[in-house]
Amino acid sequence: MSILRIYNCFHPILREKAQKVEKFDQELKEFTDNMLATMYNADGIGLAANQVGDRRAICIVDINSGDEDKSNYTPIVMINPTIISFDDEITTYQEGCLSIPKYYEDVDRPAAVQVQYTDIDMKLHTLEADDILARVIQHEYDHLKGILFFDRISQIKKALGKKKLNKIKRGELDTFYPMINPDGSEFDPMGSKEK
Ligand code: NI
Repeated sequence: MSILRIYNCFHPILREKAQKVEKFDQELKEFTDNMLATMYNADGIGLAANQVGDRRAICIVDINSGDEDKSNYTPIVMINPTIISFDDEITTYQEGCLSIPKYYEDVDRPAAVQVQYTDIDMKLHTLEADDILARVIQHEYDHLKGILFFDRISQIKKALGKKKLNKIKRGELDTFYPMINPDGSEFDPMGSKEK
């Protein structure tokens, strides 16, 4: 397994819409394993394929990522996901994103969703999710549509965070994991996994 580089949110691939996965083969399995390794390495709870420079409609989530006991991990690999229903109730929760390091804002989203996806063995699943799982699924699903979480916050909040976002845009990052800058060059973190 290898650790992939995570693309900065200002790289154009983060604005592209994902393409349907048609080919289920060994390469797909290896790629999703690499996505999982990359997410765990960065202490993330979700990751979409365009965040590692791939245009396929794939996202992964694990709300137990970061647990010291790896046997508690609950990885879900979603291929060609579609959210088929949203709850009427809206909740507010602070979100972050591996492509937008150290930037956090409250985002309003439906409290629960139903998502349909195919797993790596081409089996179709329907998952009902609420709480944090519903939150992460919607965040990753947005990535596959080229939407970033700061698109969903008020203009005032976004204006207040402009300084931070401009720093990220310039590639002045404070991360412990390797990234791809908006211009496609590589970013290597200075320190180790200390945060
Ligand atoms: Ni994200």
